Amino acid sequence: MAKVKTRYICQNCGTTSPKWMGKCTNCNEWETYVEEVVQPKSKASTKQQQLTGIVSPTKKAVSISRIESIEEKRLLTNDEELNRVLGGGIVPGGIVLIGGEPGIGKSTLMLQIAVHLQNHKILYVSGEESAQQIKLRADRIGVKNHNCLILTETNLYNVFQQLKSIQPQLCIIDSIQTLQSPTLESTAGSVSQIRECASALQQYAKQYNVPIFLIGHITKEGTIAGPKILEHMVDTVLQFEGDTHYSYRLLRTKKNRFGSTAELGIYEMLHNGLRQVSNPSELLISETNQELSGISIAATIEGLRPLLIETQALVSRSAYGTPQRSATGFDSRRLNMLLAVLEKRCGFRFGDKDVFVNIAGGIKVEDPAIDLSIICALLSSFEDVCVPQRVCFAGEVGLSGEVRSVNRIEQRLLEADKLGFKRMFISANHKGLDAKKYGLEIVFVSTVEKVYELLFKL
Ligand code: TYD
Ligand code: MG
Repeated sequence: MAKVKTRYICQNCGTTSPKWMGKCTNCNEWETYVEEVVQPKSKASTKQQQLTGIVSPTKKAVSISRIESIEEKRLLTNDEELNRVLGGGIVPGGIVLIGGEPGIGKSTLMLQIAVHLQNHKILYVSGEESAQQIKLRADRIGVKNHNCLILTETNLYNVFQQLKSIQPQLCIIDSIQTLQSPTLESTAGSVSQIRECASALQQYAKQYNVPIFLIGHITKEGTIAGPKILEHMVDTVLQFEGDTHYSYRLLRTKKNRFGSTAELGIYEMLHNGLRQVSNPSELLISETNQELSGISIAATIEGLRPLLIETQALVSRSAYGTPQRSATGFDSRRLNMLLAVLEKRCGFRFGDKDVFVNIAGGIKVEDPAIDLSIICALLSSFEDVCVPQRVCFAGEVGLSGEVRSVNRIEQRLLEADKLGFKRMFISANHKGLDAKKYGLEIVFVSTVEKVYELLFKL
């Protein structure tokens, strides 16, 4: 019998090597090489063609002006958040990859989309759960749809047979890591399997103009498992994130060939599925009537949406020699920087203090405009003086303690006004802003010291 030829592939970046190595020479990751069987290319591709029935015809180049423009008809789901994140609905023949941590709600989101699209034939392929488990989930969501067909299968060949006989208008694969092509001998979830299955599905989608959603697992580093090439292959990459201890979930676009990547969808996980959150600010601000120290409200922008978020800080005397620094939902290096700015510019001593910072709702904020609010929460807790109610902040803080201007300030002001805020602190650099246009008082500040004087100096 002929010797089986194998090679080693890095599961992180897809680099191949004839022998096993402890560290990948390309991405420098440790212990990522896995042995895989090499198939002669021609043999593998003809076998693949036989199985999937997809033959790519030879094509001729045409002038771009002779290509007819077609009016693309997007498929609109009942989920406004998803429609917006996709750039206005599902594009026919488009492949969408949706990644997220286990238990975050990827399967729930996709099943919910499937059962709500009543007049369309949908094929939901699950390689992870049994039909009964999916039925249980559908019962929780509580919508019946006779056109939503469930297939529990991991063999790519059988999936293609079903695709051909059912001819669905939308196909969902849960998940791409569980699919296995019989042409390859490597196990499901390996780089070559993922690449093979995804490319076969991509060809199907383009040939029959059927949109396909692929659910993808993510690695411990938070990137979608499998080769980077998977993200290149698909048209749209969505990331479903959130803290499983909280009920909020964010759907972000990381790549979109058919729309903007700045969109954001917000959901709340309830006992009967995911609920779309159309006005998130009201939920992210706790409704307490009494004033508490260490709390302040930031007017941030996530994607294109203004979002007012509560930031909390606790500054207390350190019980041990080494003071603790902890930040949830906020970059801890940035927190250290802000503390250093307060030490240097305002003369506060945090050397013997524990400092904890938390963003309400388990949400991670990357907008630098949150800095000013964090500073105020820290000062408020340090001095034990409350930030007055109905006051919010938007400003980036620089190394010399200056308050810098931030983008989309008009949108932030309008949102704060809409939610009944009375005063907003912003950078003095926002010149040319028509303050009378807004229903709330705008306080222009240039430095952190100025903010301290205005709010906390007794
Ligand atoms: P799931 O969609 O299975 O996550 P993923 O596919 O990303 O791994 O969702 C898992 C969690 O969602 C599970 O912990 C239970 C919770 N859940 C609800 O809270 N309400 C519901 O209606 C459903 C269906 C799930
Ligand atoms: Mg799942």
